[in-house]
Amino acid sequence: MNLLIKNGRVVDPSQGLDAIADVLISDGKIAKIDGHIEGSNVEVFDAKGLVVAPGFIDAHTHLREPGYEGKEDIESGTKAAAAGGITTVFCMANTDPVIDSSILVSGLKERIARKAAVNVEVIGAVTKGLKGEELAEMGDMAEAGAIAFSDDGRWIANSRIFRSALEYASAFDKIIISHAEDETLAAGGYMNEGLTSTKLGIPGIPAAAEDIAVARDIILAELTGARLHVAHVSTKGAVELIRQAKARGVKVTAEATVHHMTLTDSAVVGYNTAAKVSPPLRTAEHVEAVRRGVKDGTIDIIVTDHAPHSFKDKDVEFRYAPNGAVGLETSIAVALTDLYHTGILTLEEMIDRMSAAPSRLFSLDRGNLKIGSRADVTILDLNKEWTIEGRKFYSKSKLTPFEGKRRRGKAAGAIVNGKIVMKDGIVL
Ligand code: DOR
Repeated sequence: MNLLIKNGRVVDPSQGLDAIADVLISDGKIAKIDGHIEGSNVEVFDAKGLVVAPGFIDAHTHLREPGYEGKEDIESGTKAAAAGGITTVFCMANTDPVIDSSILVSGLKERIARKAAVNVEVIGAVTKGLKGEELAEMGDMAEAGAIAFSDDGRWIANSRIFRSALEYASAFDKIIISHAEDETLAAGGYMNEGLTSTKLGIPGIPAAAEDIAVARDIILAELTGARLHVAHVSTKGAVELIRQAKARGVKVTAEATVHHMTLTDSAVVGYNTAAKVSPPLRTAEHVEAVRRGVKDGTIDIIVTDHAPHSFKDKDVEFRYAPNGAVGLETSIAVALTDLYHTGILTLEEMIDRMSAAPSRLFSLDRGNLKIGSRADVTILDLNKEWTIEGRKFYSKSKLTPFEGKRRRGKAAGAIVNGKIVMKDGIVL
């Protein structure tokens, strides 16, 4: 059956489009965009007063399957994505077993095909078991369909191995995504090092731990000519290093999470483990620098780093709680409220960083509403007022650093391959 999205404000940065129009979807593809389309035998989505955008892509999600299904699984994680208006997620390799072979990539893709509510791309590990000692079979994993490679959660401290990883991945034009944090300097720290950590009496992690790792990674990307992507940038120094490297022509790209763009380390006050993430939430000065980086394109994309943990895991003394916060069901609302309505990003910039740019970066066939493109669409209600309540999440993890926060803006619909998967927050 065909689908007709009526009367929405269609915004597609890839074609400079911002107009009230109807969008006809046929056979899972965008068939026509016009001021008025008459449809017979079509399902109609009334988008009056809403924005019709290319489907949002989250290039950094933890679905936790296999191994940690108590925290999340393919079904619950992708339902959370659909509920939040995200039509593609990339799942990270820090599962049990770690996704470090083609067999595991194929097995995961087979389960995704059966269970996922949205598109899922698989990220393979860079090193076997994420141990940072021996390269994983990236070539085989690429052949099995891995989109990129990352030891997310761990920095590959051995420079010789990281150099080899970059060289190996560049042989098949794949990107290495680095969790850039010098673990020797970060060791023993549980939050950002600064005034707040001192007041709370929690040992801190200095921003320098990230700056050092980003500097090393960039130097090796420059040496090898390979493509490096820096995950969850959180420091002013890292933004500046990436800015300078880009200006020199180094093939480096970067991402920022919604939480690092909108929260400071004061979210941890009260020993709030829901706000314990890696890298840690920083001070306003760093948040401001990350926002500037996203605005001027130094940081290419915005991600969630949706990292679900159970209530039991998090309901412990601050230092023992695992790092991670869910984000799939709040990212659009928080970005609209704190980045768009505040004038930090235009709507076009926000849609670019959360849809078109990740598609370009990872050479996906989506992130736009061009005729003939795959019909992944996110419908936004820019002004919907609502309160974030974790207990209503589709994710198995109900803990969010945004709990109880009033927000203006929400995803009102999600369409994947021409099929409505979410309407008014309900996953279909
Ligand atoms: O906060 C985080 N949690 N950051 C990471 O890089 C890993 C993630 C996890 O897997 O829980």
